[in-house]
Amino acid sequence: MRPLALLALCASTVAAAEPPSFTKDVAPILFENCMSCHREGEAAPFPLTSYSEAKKRGALISAVTEARYMPPWHAAPADVRYRDERRLSEEQIGTLKAWVEAGMPEGDPGRLPAPPEFAEGWQLGEPDLVVRMPEAFEVPAEGPDLYRSFAIPLPAGGDRWVRAIEFRPSARGASHHALFFADPSGEALEADSADGGPGFAGMRELRRSERGGGLGGWAVGGAPQMLPDGLARPLPAGSALVVQMHFHPSGKIEREQASLGLYFAPEAPQRTLTGVQTPPLFGRLAGIDIPAGESRYVVKDSFELPIAVDAYGVGGHAHYLCSEMKMTATLPGGEVKTLLWIDRWDFAWQERYYFREPLRLPAGTVLETELIYDNSAANPANPHRPPRHVAWGRGSEDEMGSVSLEVLAAKESELAELRAAQRRQIRQAIANRFLSAISGGSR
Ligand code: HEC
Repeated sequence: MRPLALLALCASTVAAAEPPSFTKDVAPILFENCMSCHREGEAAPFPLTSYSEAKKRGALISAVTEARYMPPWHAAPADVRYRDERRLSEEQIGTLKAWVEAGMPEGDPGRLPAPPEFAEGWQLGEPDLVVRMPEAFEVPAEGPDLYRSFAIPLPAGGDRWVRAIEFRPSARGASHHALFFADPSGEALEADSADGGPGFAGMRELRRSERGGGLGGWAVGGAPQMLPDGLARPLPAGSALVVQMHFHPSGKIEREQASLGLYFAPEAPQRTLTGVQTPPLFGRLAGIDIPAGESRYVVKDSFELPIAVDAYGVGGHAHYLCSEMKMTATLPGGEVKTLLWIDRWDFAWQERYYFREPLRLPAGTVLETELIYDNSAANPANPHRPPRHVAWGRGSEDEMGSVSLEVLAAKESELAELRAAQRRQIRQAIANRFLSAISGGSR
């Protein structure tokens, strides 16, 4: 066959290939990857559950998936795989695009797959304890995002161990994420009653015990997670449950009075889940001090693991100015693994990323964190116009930052060594701050 004829043949087979249709190709992608948030009563602004709903926004769907703005997933590909990863494949993105370019055909209605079913009720089964925010908090229809914490008293009892907290917000359109803490100090209950309205303003990190009072979190579209068998987080006797929430006004007034289902382990776990935070204390001693206009302010910290650990998950925390954060592990042999890389940090998505398989990190592994802040006017997330000098602080317009790895000591008996190394790291950071203060340096 002459080359030209061959070309013509190829062209005609391509043209004859069916363009993607909604029922056969597009609906399975939307049902699987979008509907957890894009359906009636959930946080996304419109449903994507039928042909007509998808067709109305076809061009936008193609644009936001191609830009990887949707589905929201902020961790760039790393050297670990995460559970419940929300990332479309290049092929899926291509299908959505080709469908829009072909004029968004519906296809054979008989091929429409059954939409996924979302369990009503508690997804993890009947909780051991159900609590509810004592009063409803009114989220206004309009205005800036709101951060508010609520202290929920718990029935008396001894020390408890939490395997999971399932969170059921009532203001489903406005509730974006929630973080849970145990507060045995009474501080949060005091702050809640001192503030006139339900809850208390702000998002200050409560003074946490050395063990870390974090009890996990919830983010829009996320499924509740049960810790693996034998693991649980401590809820010391007499603690209040603190729920720190982020609201994004939805266009109508909504009332938040969330219910929380707590699932307890029958006994204290044999192994202790613990956090390795770099820099420690959310960067309090890292000298964070960002000049107005500085577009690339870098904070680095590292920590050498004195013992072998199994890492379960990773998460970062910073406020509005952070633009990028990364944690790598350099193994004793020199191999470098990226554990978390958020290349476009978005304050609205404070998520934890759990590894599909626990990752063994040998003693001598060096964890390195790099946080980058953009305090220029070009950063659309900058709360100050014009930019202002920003330093470490608990207010949302101050900055902080760290990446935390959730780990188990490979040998429980060695946990004390890890804790001792963490205390040394904090003492060293205090000494460094002191030295730089007396030598007149700002960092
Ligand atoms: C985890 C929840 C979640 C998932 C999953 C999700 N979305 Fe969204 N989506 C949102 C939220 C919340 C908004 C509104 C706020 C925003 O724009 O960030 C939104 C907004 C949008 C918008 C409007 C963007 C704009 O600029 O107006 C489009 C289009 C969209 N999503 C498409 C999709 C598609 C397509 C998928 C699946 C491939 C998807 N989303 C998956 C939560 C989600």
